[in-house]
Amino acid sequence: MPGAEDTLKRGRCRPGPPGGVARRPRDGQDRAVGARRRRSAALVAALALAPVGCGGDETSAVPVSTTTTPRATAPVTTSPPARTAPRARPAPAPAALPGLPRDTAGFDRWPRLNAAPIPPDSEQTRRVGFDAHRGVKNVYVDSPAAAPGQPVGGVFAPGTVVVKAGGDDGVITLIAIMRKVAGSDPEHGDWEFVEYIRSGAGEDFTTDARLTGPTCWSCHAIARETDWVFTPPASR
Ligand code: HEC
Repeated sequence: MPGAEDTLKRGRCRPGPPGGVARRPRDGQDRAVGARRRRSAALVAALALAPVGCGGDETSAVPVSTTTTPRATAPVTTSPPARTAPRARPAPAPAALPGLPRDTAGFDRWPRLNAAPIPPDSEQTRRVGFDAHRGVKNVYVDSPAAAPGQPVGGVFAPGTVVVKAGGDDGVITLIAIMRKVAGSDPEHGDWEFVEYIRSGAGEDFTTDARLTGPTCWSCHAIARETDWVFTPPASR
């Protein structure tokens, strides 16, 4: 605390109030008088402030610095983290990976269902018998109903897009998508399924007629009770 007050007192030394005290002369004749008045007003103000702002008399400074302490401590204690926070900058609009639909753009910034990356032998793959999606995966959800910072899960709202990104060694080679479109397919939870693959980094993603519909929901039906989604929301 004394450190902060000292900083405040030293800081207040510099900006004296002569501009606020002295008045601008009305015309040329008054200019000299005005300048004299300004100088003397500044001097009076500086003398009045001296014991308080410049630490000339510690005891008389106490009541004044007490009243200004709340304003003074806030910037002193909070400004270092605010200055170093990298998220303050607005992020540029992301583009979709080559070959992927636009609604997947920036998926890796969406809320994630899984807390840790899902291994090939996950609990859910053991449940269905084999790893249909191969590799290490993350499941991201863009849901219009999700409040910021809240976990997503349960029954998903129309408009929700679920992206499962899979691959090895940090290179994503598989993107499986579930889109909730109201009324599109009530028998299968109103989900549209489609999957895109590529052989490696730098390649475009492609899909074909087999990577959609029955291929997908035949297995996802096992997760019908959790709105056809296998990955349980991570507890936060
Ligand atoms: C043999 C079963 C099986 C098939 C077939 C299958 N999936 Fe999956 N899918 C899973 C499992 C299990 C998970 C959970 C993640 C994990 O543990 O790998 C999953 C996860 C997903 C997810 C993330 C949401 C979730 O359910 O956790 C999406 C999106 C997805 N699959 C889309 C598809 C698409 C699109 C197809 C068809 C091309 C498909 N899946 C075919 C078993 C399957």
